[in-house]
Amino acid sequence: MPATLAKLTYQALQKGKGAFSLAHKEISLRLLKTMAPDAVVKTLPLEPGAIQALHDAMDLLLERDWQDGEDGIYPTELLFSSPWKDWVVRYPLLWLDSPATWDRLRRRDFQDLPETINRQHYPAYYLRNFHNQTDGYLSDRSAALYDLQVEILFNGAADPMRRRLLRPLKQALPRLGVGGNPSQPVRILDLATGTGRTMHQLRAAFPHVQLVGCDLSEAYLRQAGRWLAERPGKLPQLVQANVEAVPFVDGWFDAITCVFLLHELPRPARANCMKEAFRLLKPGGVLAVLDSVQPKDSPQFKVLSENFRRVYHEPFYGDYMADAIETHLDQAGFAVPTSETHFLARLWLARKPT
Ligand SMILES: C[S@@+](CC[C@H](N)C(=O)[O-])C[C@H]1O[C@@H](n2cnc3c(N)ncnc32)[C@H](O)[C@@H]1O
Repeated sequence: MPATLAKLTYQALQKGKGAFSLAHKEISLRLLKTMAPDAVVKTLPLEPGAIQALHDAMDLLLERDWQDGEDGIYPTELLFSSPWKDWVVRYPLLWLDSPATWDRLRRRDFQDLPETINRQHYPAYYLRNFHNQTDGYLSDRSAALYDLQVEILFNGAADPMRRRLLRPLKQALPRLGVGGNPSQPVRILDLATGTGRTMHQLRAAFPHVQLVGCDLSEAYLRQAGRWLAERPGKLPQLVQANVEAVPFVDGWFDAITCVFLLHELPRPARANCMKEAFRLLKPGGVLAVLDSVQPKDSPQFKVLSENFRRVYHEPFYGDYMADAIETHLDQAGFAVPTSETHFLARLWLARKPT
């Protein structure tokens, strides 16, 4: 396909995802107001200009995403690689799941988890229905719907945001692009990999690298394994572990990524996670953290963030919004990080001193 046509297709696809997501959210809200009015949470009116700022930030994100594909940071096919078939099949399940979600919202019960799980295997902060998800992170049903839910939440921009860490990572560690020699493999760990969307991007950009994904949820790892196995490329190693204590020796990894996790951790766990990343990295290794924007860098989205905290069950997001990630990185031992904002995500890149 000629480049201009491919770019137009990409933009149309993303706009389509955005319009679909907005329509879904609008219908969901109307249904909630009708079916469970006592479960509706009061939200704040957005600041003037916030919607325009969102559109502008999204356009810029997509432009950068396309440009990085063009520049060969990752193959342009990656921009079209959503699991469409799965999403189409799973979309009706989202609606079928709604009554259970409304019921939990009505009861204000955010610790409604499968009875079969062994609660002692998880830290207390984890045992919740994050984003109001049925079963929290602890079932195959939840894992099957997660990506679609995140995609809708971010109006189709979840993967373009995740891809923002690829260029800076490659620039910080040029070895990632070539893979090094086989006796000294380049290793990347994706902390809290969930269903593996970040590993999918990493594998496409750095095909020679040895990838490891870790998460506390066995069900999410199972889903990650299934998706990654369906596509070409080396299979990453999947490890069920707490990001506060990952079972690898010191200095095992060249790079570590951590996407959309920190806002779901209480502050001490956030600090522990950064310390653990430091321990796991080789001297000179790089940590890339991508998470929600914070009001100090993105004041135009302050109300949007506050509404997100109110509507979706995010018990630690309020604290995250005021937390200084740079301080955690500094206290863990990292050199002064760089940071940048892309749409609704903030990216920090920090190096372990040699
Ligand atoms: C919002 S999801 C993000 C998943 C993935 N990184 C992504 O970009 O979609 C948060 C993930 O963190 C995992 N998680 C939360 N706390 C954890 C912990 N202490 N240790 C390991 N994984 C954790 C959850 O199981 C879930 O898969």
